[in-house]
Amino acid sequence: MASHLQSSANIPASIDFDSIKKLTTAEAKTVDQLIISELSSDVVLINQMGHYIVGSGGKRLRPMLLLLAAKALGGVSDNHLLLAAVIEFIHTATLLHDDVVDDSDLRRGKESANAVWGNAASILVGDYLYSSAFEMMVRTGNMRVMEILSKTTTAIAEGEVLQLLNCNNPETTEEKYLEVIARKTAILFSAATKLAAVVADASIEIEQGLAQYGQHLGIAFQLIDDALDYKASKEELGKNLGDDLAEGKPTLPLIYAIQNGNQNEAKIIIDAIKNGDREAFNEVYAVVQSTKAIDYTEQRAHEEAEKAITALNILPESEFKEALVLLAKFSVQRNY
Ligand code: IPE
Ligand code: IPE
Ligand code: MG
Ligand code: MG
Repeated sequence: MASHLQSSANIPASIDFDSIKKLTTAEAKTVDQLIISELSSDVVLINQMGHYIVGSGGKRLRPMLLLLAAKALGGVSDNHLLLAAVIEFIHTATLLHDDVVDDSDLRRGKESANAVWGNAASILVGDYLYSSAFEMMVRTGNMRVMEILSKTTTAIAEGEVLQLLNCNNPETTEEKYLEVIARKTAILFSAATKLAAVVADASIEIEQGLAQYGQHLGIAFQLIDDALDYKASKEELGKNLGDDLAEGKPTLPLIYAIQNGNQNEAKIIIDAIKNGDREAFNEVYAVVQSTKAIDYTEQRAHEEAEKAITALNILPESEFKEALVLLAKFSVQRNY
């Protein structure tokens, strides 16, 4: 597998995320207002928790992708704005549920909602966000939109369940891992960019190109997320390192380390996966380093980002298309 490792000279050292964000500042503000107004419920805890997690920031990458794709196709309509909010609602719902499943207590640099209000509240408010997202999408009156989003949320749930089945299983293959991340993460990115085309009444070729862009970008994004769980700075990432190991999640850095380590090294990783052992973090990290497993994971992410960029060939040239190219690059060289 080491032969896959190549240099990635075509990916520049740092992408200015904030300057890309500026291209959608006005629209993103409207999306945020929509999100805030949709969070209001006469059930106080829903308001509190909703504002807590939405107010703690996040990159808002998925709505940004949808808005940039819309702009690359000629402009942002009301339905684009609505769907950008819907996508962020679905993302936020998955985070509320995910932190319960992963037993994570830090999110976006703050105590996670489950750490503050408990698991039951996080699950229920996550359900509320999912349901609100569906209520909002119905307002588009567009059957294709509803079909895409309902298939997307079903696939996300399948991805999360598949991941649960792989937990504590050191025999999980790279292929099985890729199946999980395609569903739990990439499909939502793909839905975001595809919906921009659907709502713009773009050609089927453009719709497919944007869907592929989102799918490859999403895989790259999760590959890097899984690398960051071992090598990021906690402060910059706003999440704890080692949460994946604590859950016995066989992510690509570990799968590769098992396959490329010596017998002793492989055993360290296998035992840590079986036991979901956070205490083994330093030992595991040493093996991940010596086997160059992070390099391999990053290389795979670079390949996916390149595929994402190639899929954009179908779009006419514009600064928005260029921004989509840069966001694919950002997704693989980010450290938060
Ligand atoms: C976190 O997504 C969940 C993953 C799919 C890895 P983001 O990294 O986009 O989270 P926020 O919204 O910026 O907090
Ligand atoms: C992404 O996986 C989860 C979702 C798609 C909801 P992770 O479990 O790695 O995400 P983080 O690291 O907690 O954000
Ligand atoms: Mg998690
Ligand atoms: Mg993670």
